[in-house]
Order: sequence, then C-alpha cells, then structure tokens
Amino acid sequence: MKTLKILLVTFIITLVPFMVKAQEKPKPWPVSDEYKNMKNPVEKNEASLKAGQSLYIKHCASCHGKTGLGDGVKSRALKTFSGDLTGPDYQNQTDGEQFYKTKFGRGEMPKYEGRLSDEDIWNIVNYMRTFKK
Ligand code: HEC
Repeated sequence: MKTLKILLVTFIITLVPFMVKAQEKPKPWPVSDEYKNMKNPVEKNEASLKAGQSLYIKHCASCHGKTGLGDGVKSRALKTFSGDLTGPDYQNQTDGEQFYKTKFGRGEMPKYEGRLSDEDIWNIVNYMRTFKK
C-alpha cells in the first residue's frame, strides 16, 4: 500500500508540470522594411479612433483584452501570449509593423486580410495607440 502511494505521488509530481505548461512567449516577428516604413494613410482623428475602437472590441478584445493587456476571455486557451499592447515592445513598433501583423497574422494570431479593409486595419492601429501607458 505504501509503495503504491509513493508511486502515485511521484507520478503526480512528474506529470503535473507538463499538464500546466506555461504560455509561450512570442518569438521575434520581423517585418520587412516595405511595411515597417509604410506611412499610415489614416489620420488619428476622433472618427478614426471611434471606428477603431468598435472594430477592436468586436474582433480583437476576445484575445488581446479590452485594454490591450492580452487578458481577453480567449487568452487562457492560447498557447502563445498575445503580447502586452500597452508596453514599449509593442508601442515602439511603427504603425506599418502593427498594420502588417494585423493584416497577415501568424500562428494563433488570425489574419484579417480579406476580412477587414486596409482602412479599417489602420483605424484599429490608430486606436491601439491609445493603450500606451
Ligand atoms: C484568437 C486570438 C486573437 C485574436 C482574435 C486577435 N489576435 Fe492578435 N495576436 C494573437 C496572438 C496569439 C499573438 C502573438 C502571435 C505571435 O507572436 O506568434 C497576436 C499578436 C498580435 C500583434 C503583434 C503584437 C506584438 O507585440 O508585436 C498585433 C499587432 C495584433 N495581434 C493585432 C490584432 C488585432 C488588431 C486584432 C483584431 C483585428 C487581433 N490581433 C485579433 C491572438 C489574437
């Protein structure tokens, strides 16, 4: 009986860490100069921020969270952390880089090409600037 207990405890101790595997940190995501240096054609005015906000809430907040912290309702089911959109790693990227990543996606980040117009993606990029701490 005692050996059985010891076996069971050893079993649990070895396996549990594999079952609750932590979320992966996103790998570097290089963007070509063409997109990196692309000029944002949509002015960051009130209309753009408003349009961006409603699109963000509809399409993005479920993963990225309402305030961009990566804590949306679906976030716990993701293998990759969706990133902290309030911090410098994200905010120091150019508008073009953010546009590229939203349009083309990667891995668990869906691509919005064909689902959102370029103008709407720029509106969302503009809105995500308001997350800056
Ligand atoms: C199903 C969950 C999910 C949804 C919905 C989603 N994303 Fe993502 N997003 C991710 C994940 C996961 C990553 C990290 C991907 C990686 O690095 O491999 C990511 C990364 C990003 C990045 C890059 C962040 C960085 O730090 O460089 C941007 C920009 C982005 N998403 C914008 C958006 C926008 C805009 C929308 C809505 C139009 C959206 N995402 C919807 C999961 C999601």
